[in-house]
Amino acid sequence: MNSIIYNLESNNNLNDNDLTCLLETDIYDDELHKVADKVRKENYGNFVYIRGLIEFTNYCKNDCYYCGIRRSNDKSDRYRLNKDEILKCCKTGYELGIRTFVLQGGEDSYYNDNLICDIVSDIHKLYRDCAITLSIGEKSYESYKSYFDAGAKRFLLRHETANEEHYARLHPEIMSLENRKRCLFDLKKIGYQVGSGFMVGSPYQTTQNIIEDLRFLQELEPDMIGIGPYINHKDTPFAGKKNGTLELTLRLVSVLRLMFPYALIPATTALGTISLNGRELGLKSGANVVMPNLSPVETRKKYDLYENKICTGEEAAECLGCLERRVESAGYRIVTDIGDVKKHA
Ligand code: SAM
Ligand code: FES
Repeated sequence: MNSIIYNLESNNNLNDNDLTCLLETDIYDDELHKVADKVRKENYGNFVYIRGLIEFTNYCKNDCYYCGIRRSNDKSDRYRLNKDEILKCCKTGYELGIRTFVLQGGEDSYYNDNLICDIVSDIHKLYRDCAITLSIGEKSYESYKSYFDAGAKRFLLRHETANEEHYARLHPEIMSLENRKRCLFDLKKIGYQVGSGFMVGSPYQTTQNIIEDLRFLQELEPDMIGIGPYINHKDTPFAGKKNGTLELTLRLVSVLRLMFPYALIPATTALGTISLNGRELGLKSGANVVMPNLSPVETRKKYDLYENKICTGEEAAECLGCLERRVESAGYRIVTDIGDVKKHA
């Protein structure tokens, strides 16, 4: 076996030169994906966990340059789900066997802390055997703590990029990497299972930036790591920029599996959007989570972070059925339990 991959598999930290070699050429790809799949099977067998995604608002106070629902996109058709509508999504998901609900949205102050806690605690009361995950952006320590006490035990917040200059090229001045990191460490301190991650191939990203992302993740030790290709949206300042590639995303999924053998790593919707069988390939490269969409069909198209987003036309049951077939065709099996992270090594 190639020594770079051997070092990764045996958990010896790779130096930056080795990582650069691995990320910038395709010569290691076959072996890299094979070894990553072996390590995922040692840790998680052939199980794939499902998380039901509820995209409950596309209002956002932020103006991230890459994002289709950014505040300044006045072409975005805005919507909010009320508590009953969110609970209805959970009911549908529960009946389909889903035991984790992910509430994701833009940073929308309409949902103040009281309302978020009210929604979370109602879901918690109704579905005691389910995990509630929030993905609602940057908040204060106190706000995060109140959601945790209401019953949310997992939180997804991608750091997006761990390099200050790169961060400043992707976000307006008012946003800072420092605050993003503060949020992630606060979430850990409170006791959340934390997910972070970044876009692959975002504008101006260099290999060195990606290595910094990997180093930051080593420092954070997240339970979940979400990566997906950057995909262009025509109504953003990045209109016309190149998309991230399937190849680099898959390479990184494998590298992440080897660096973080215990982690929950989704085969993301963005991966399925840039390539028809992107999610199957993601699973074969080391991913072990898929996220069927439970949002009402009427609002799906409006949560358009990027162009041609898949899974916007089907009902939840169809979406899950399609994912089940894809997971099986890749040689894995969906499990419906709560799917906590395995203990870190
Ligand atoms: N507001 C929450 C937050 O900031 O974490 C959650 C919603 S945000 C839309 C979820 C993720 O979508 C972001 O962390 C970002 O990585 C991803 N995203 C946004 N625009 C994207 C694009 N054009 N291509 C790929 N991913 C994108
Ligand atoms: Fe807020 Fe994208 S800019 S969710």
